[in-house]
Amino acid sequence: MLPTSFLKIEWRGWFENYIHNSMKLLEGKTALVTGASKGIGRKIAEVFAQHGANVAFTYLSSVEKGQALEQELQAFGTKVKGYRSDASQFAEAEKLIEDIVSEFGTIDVVVNNAGVTKDGLLMRMTEENWDDVMNVNVKSVFNVTKAASKVMMKNRKGSFINMSSVVGVQGNAGQANYAASKAGIIGFSKSVARELGSRNIRTNVIAPGFIRTEMTEVLDPKVVAGWEANIPLKRAGEAEEVANACLFLASDLSSYVNGQVLPVDGGML
Ligand SMILES: NC(=O)c1ccc[n+]([C@@H]2O[C@H](COP(=O)([O-])OP(=O)(O)OC[C@H]3O[C@@H](n4cnc5c(N)ncnc54)[C@H](OP(=O)(O)O)[C@@H]3O)[C@@H](O)[C@H]2O)c1
Repeated sequence: MLPTSFLKIEWRGWFENYIHNSMKLLEGKTALVTGASKGIGRKIAEVFAQHGANVAFTYLSSVEKGQALEQELQAFGTKVKGYRSDASQFAEAEKLIEDIVSEFGTIDVVVNNAGVTKDGLLMRMTEENWDDVMNVNVKSVFNVTKAASKVMMKNRKGSFINMSSVVGVQGNAGQANYAASKAGIIGFSKSVARELGSRNIRTNVIAPGFIRTEMTEVLDPKVVAGWEANIPLKRAGEAEEVANACLFLASDLSSYVNGQVLPVDGGML
């Protein structure tokens, strides 16, 4: 006979799956997720497809992973397509939006997630490392938002979700370029929220804390343990926990949320 604790766990898992599968929060919506070949972006694409969205996503250097994701997401039964596109290039972002509109018909949700780090103390930071991080992290958000906003303005609806970081709010030694880029995303998003709100287009920011992905797995385990000790929840976050916050901001559940920064950080900020 099975112990009662086992039955409770099984029942809970079944119930959670049932709720997840029966509530399709993004049915009928088309979403673009930039930088979805791995990490947080990949999970967002998966959760969106699971919730009934048609999903366009981008990748850049991880071509095989991007192609594999396109195959995997077919299982959810919605339209899915991956594009190799450099979000930091203005012309490529414009072409991307044109291609998505001709393939999917429209765009309702954009998650500007693509990002990189090139860490180093200010004294050693090169101009190239500054420029690369600013171009990929902030200029990309301008590029994609500008192109996609034309589509949303015609539709008189839309939701932009821009991926910042707790570091953009509180700073971090060794990440002056990254922190500046992530703070820039907040200022940009709050401005766009004021400009486009009258067209029923919402713009919000997510500020993840320390999330377990390829971006953070390169960190020294001692540094990681130090960070975790300072997080009120005493653990790193998972990509799915960020994706679930994106799901809320992408869906109509957040229809009156605009111009906000939502930390997903275990209480760090
Ligand atoms: N992990 C964390 O703890 C954490 C915390 C706060 C904020 N964030 C932010 O969350 C986002 C995702 O982070 P992550 O940890 O999932 O990072 P990740 O695992 O390194 O993934 C980054 C993604 O961005 C894509 N990308 C990079 N440059 C690009 C470009 N120019 N054009 C298009 N795509 C590009 C990469 O694609 P390719 O591999 O194909 O080049 C990859 O899919 C980033 O904006 C990051 O700053 C992460």
